[in-house]
Amino acid sequence: MAETTKTAKLTIDGESYDLAMYAPTEGPEVIDIRKLYAQAGVFTYDPGFTSTASCDSTITYIDGEAGVLLHRGYPIGQLAKESHYLEVCYLLLYGELPSAAQLEEFETLVTRHTMIHEQMHNFFRGFRRDAHPMATMVGVVGAMSAFYHDSTDINDEHQREVASIRLIAKMPTIAAMAYKYSIGQPFVYPRNDLDYASNFLRMCFSVPAEEYEVNPILARAMDRIFTLHADHEQNASTSTVRLASSSGANPFACIAAGIACLWGPAHGGANQACLEMLREIGTPDRIPEFIERAKDKNDPFRLMGFGHRVYKNFDPRAKVMKESADEVLELLGIENNPTLQVAKELERVALEDPYFAEKKLYPNVDFYSGIILDAMGFPTSMFTPIFALARTVGWVSQWKEQLADPQLKIGRPRQLYLGAAQRDYVDIEQR
Ligand code: SDX
Repeated sequence: MAETTKTAKLTIDGESYDLAMYAPTEGPEVIDIRKLYAQAGVFTYDPGFTSTASCDSTITYIDGEAGVLLHRGYPIGQLAKESHYLEVCYLLLYGELPSAAQLEEFETLVTRHTMIHEQMHNFFRGFRRDAHPMATMVGVVGAMSAFYHDSTDINDEHQREVASIRLIAKMPTIAAMAYKYSIGQPFVYPRNDLDYASNFLRMCFSVPAEEYEVNPILARAMDRIFTLHADHEQNASTSTVRLASSSGANPFACIAAGIACLWGPAHGGANQACLEMLREIGTPDRIPEFIERAKDKNDPFRLMGFGHRVYKNFDPRAKVMKESADEVLELLGIENNPTLQVAKELERVALEDPYFAEKKLYPNVDFYSGIILDAMGFPTSMFTPIFALARTVGWVSQWKEQLADPQLKIGRPRQLYLGAAQRDYVDIEQR
């Protein structure tokens, strides 16, 4: 726990209350209000948690004003360029960059847990073929607690570790199976001679009728997309995982809850919604029409892939994603991709518009990711499952951190009640 740095004074109806304050390594100081209700009989009020720290953490730091994202202190731009996803997984899980020996041991461990219980194949077959792959993932990951009951005891450190590795290792297999099932193709087993990203691409795109060669350009781009989505502080889905875990729910149930929350178009579903929006715009000459709609208070339309609760500057992930989009599409010989042209022009027009400038709305991680995934051959329905796959390590790391916190209590917010005061039941004859 952080040290008390100073005291905040709160005065209510002439009564004064001292509240301890703590200083972070980086970012805003916090006011400890845990005893406020007991001392002053009042709640704080913060729907959407715009000014609330739900926990302390050492995993990820975001400076929204400066557009900075650090994982265990390392800038995301450096990790995306110099590192690779499984090394970032090790960093998020254990707090330090691994030695060569530690990395090899970790990669071998993950590789050897990529298959799922054969009985789970039947579970997929209970879904309609046209089920959204996110629906399948929520169901299958939740069902893992039935197939891997030997790693559900959250009070057993070894079982927590096994569940963590199983989730990180098996998520690509489950996501690929959800995709194959949705297009009526046979499931493809993982291969231990392939790296994490290459394995996922092969499980998605290979068919029994011919050999499949992984394109190294696509594998590198896939791995970088995984890294850019790995963790992001206390976002909605991570907070969902933490809240579910605070009740003692098993790890698979908690991660399934995170997947369900991520699905929303305001969160991880934005990558699918953004590409569909760019396709609906179609050509640069239609951009002004959509900019006006986004600014119209009476129109629920928002620019998908734009804006962020925390970033009031460029999302650093969007910058790397934009560079990667240029690189991948050029290497694939589709650099004049019309959707990419619309995206770049939309970004240029929006950033010059006072509405977006005043509200500090910039492209976020979801603005360019869909363009790369589309160029790689994924349908839009697979965009959010890929986000969920990559974010699993963040959810798991935050889940482990919370369970190790001696202050852990069940999460149970209160409310500002504006409903009816107590009244007596009225018989139907008197109503
Ligand atoms: C992710 O939290 C995370 O870290 C999430 C994430 C992660 O890695 O986990 O980064 C991943 O979810 C990225 C965000 C993906 N979502 C989208 O791209 C959907 C479009 N964006 C918006 O829905 C919105 O920007 C949010 C949900 C992302 C953030 O919303 P906030 O912080 O609640 O801000 P707000 O809705 O209060 O908006 C502030 C103002 C409003 O106008 P006023 O009421 O003040 O007049 O800005 C406007 C909004 O109407 N606004 C937009 C807009 N986003 C906000 N107007 C047009 N287009 C937009 N995209």
